Amino acid sequence: MAAGVSTSLCFTVTLSFVLGSSALHLLNATAASGNPPSTPVVRCRCAGYPNQTFCSWTEPSQSPPTHYIATYSERHRQSVTKQCHLIPPGSSSSALSSAPSSSSGQLWHCHLEDLKLLTDYIINVTAVNHVGSSCHLKSFMLEDIVKPDPPIDVRLSPNGLRKLSVEWSPPPTWPNLDIFPLKYQIQYQLENRGNPVHLGPFESTRVDLKGMAPGKTYLVQVCAMELLGLGECSNWSSPVNTTMPKLHK
Ligand SMILES: *[C@@H]1O[C@H](CO)[C@@H](O)[C@H](O)[C@H]1NC(C)=O
Ligand SMILES: *[C@@H]1O[C@H](CO)[C@@H](O)[C@H](O)[C@H]1NC(C)=O
Ligand SMILES: *[C@@H]1O[C@H](CO)[C@@H](O)[C@H](O)[C@H]1NC(C)=O
Ligand SMILES: *[C@@H]1O[C@H](CO)[C@@H](O)[C@H](O)[C@H]1NC(C)=O
Ligand SMILES: *[C@@H]1O[C@H](CO)[C@@H](O)[C@H](O)[C@H]1NC(C)=O
Repeated sequence: MAAGVSTSLCFTVTLSFVLGSSALHLLNATAASGNPPSTPVVRCRCAGYPNQTFCSWTEPSQSPPTHYIATYSERHRQSVTKQCHLIPPGSSSSALSSAPSSSSGQLWHCHLEDLKLLTDYIINVTAVNHVGSSCHLKSFMLEDIVKPDPPIDVRLSPNGLRKLSVEWSPPPTWPNLDIFPLKYQIQYQLENRGNPVHLGPFESTRVDLKGMAPGKTYLVQVCAMELLGLGECSNWSSPVNTTMPKLHK
């Protein structure tokens, strides 16, 4: 039974942290009639250091009324917990990538504040309904979950027959470019012809691509990564294209 599996996941983890009563309570929740909520599967991402860290999980569609409690603490100071500020599905927040609700459910987010570097954190997201509760504990370090939003406003300008200038702007959600600069990678390919070429990293927001084929159309995308290589590169920006000038006009 799915709910049993998810509850025992939390049960196991709960045991290793606080022996006793809450584990019993969770066990009892499964025995009661109806089903406790399914365990929220929590993902966390830092889209901008230091204040753009969000965790998210999906509320299954057609679940009975469920509310969530999200708290986090440093792994080695678990007595000090903070509320992760809940952002219900459908809220418009410019900081969140607007992932449309899928048929499998609606996306909840919560915002974590004042995170420190090189520190182990644990977030506890507990789903509660009229039958019981299920919790998910996830530990993370900021360094591992950095993933900027994609660069924006990618502009292409052919510069002679074989040179293509690419310019872009950093993701606006990355707040402190002076203190935590970004680096970028480029992916480009001929229209209708596979094999993308990868270039970079570049620290500037403008690069000249050379050796382009006259008269051909190219698709170009850019991703952004924290300069020291923390975390991973953003998603690729959506492709923009341009056609190089022809040899004989
Ligand atoms: C997780 O949070 C819930 C709700 O605040 C709490 O009842 C539970 O004890 C917490 N679990 C752990 C392992 O900290
Ligand atoms: C289990 O839950 C029932 C009602 O849901 C309650 O009456 C009972 O006291 C609970 N038992 C424990 C051990 O918490
Ligand atoms: C994050 O910090 C930047 C400046 O450092 C500020 O402009 C921005 O509004 C902050 N965002 C949030 C969500 O607090
Ligand atoms: C990145 O791409 C994945 C897969 O296409 C998508 O699920 C996710 O929402 C995207 N993230 C952002 C920040 O755009
Ligand atoms: C090239 O860009 C134009 C305008 O943005 C768009 O309509 C067209 O579909 C793009 N072509 C390809 C092959 O992506």
